[in-house]
Amino acid sequence: MQLDTEVRSLKRRDLEELLLIAKVHYPSEPWLSLDYLRERENQALVKLAIQSSKRLLGGVIVRQGKRPNVWLSLMVIDRNFGRHGLGEKLYTTMERELPTGTVVWHLLPDNKAFKPSENFLLKMGFERSGELKNYFGPRKNVVAFSKKVR
Ligand SMILES: CC(C)(COP(=O)(O)OP(=O)(O)OC[C@H]1O[C@@H](n2cnc3c(N)ncnc32)[C@H](O)[C@@H]1OP(=O)(O)O)[C@@H](O)C(=O)NCCC(=O)NCCS
Repeated sequence: MQLDTEVRSLKRRDLEELLLIAKVHYPSEPWLSLDYLRERENQALVKLAIQSSKRLLGGVIVRQGKRPNVWLSLMVIDRNFGRHGLGEKLYTTMERELPTGTVVWHLLPDNKAFKPSENFLLKMGFERSGELKNYFGPRKNVVAFSKKVR
């Protein structure tokens, strides 16, 4: 399947649709709500959407952390359109908006369910940069990934 997609700025009015896309990936995560997305969108350094024929297929939100670090706050692609290069297109477009030398960070829970996410980050050039024990509660460890933009 060859999809004609366009990357554009993510708007506040996209967030309800983006939430539905994200909920398919994270059906039982209590933190994932419209308020969460609005807060992230509000703090965004870069926010982009990917669409095809005006249908929203995914989005990315990056926020500023302690300089020069930035956080990949949300990166999600409609599961029905997975593995067609949309995530890579959205991520690489986003990265071009960041100054050279910026370090992008992301935390993933250290469990098998997040293996595809880890594969994606590694494919985008991230490295495993450390582990944080009990970060999301008892025995809920996370792995930190980082990438320096060149
Ligand atoms: C991770 C995610 C963004 C990937 O989007 P996508 O459009 O399917 O990704 P792409 O088609 O551009 O894939 C790029 C590479 O990522 C890796 N990858 C993506 N999905 C994968 C999966 N399900 N299993 C294994 N590797 C995967 C592969 O290396 C892939 O390259 P390849 O297809 O040439 O092997 C999407 O699955 C998603 O929204 N997941 C839930 C949220 C998330 O994990 N976000 C990323 C962490 S911030």
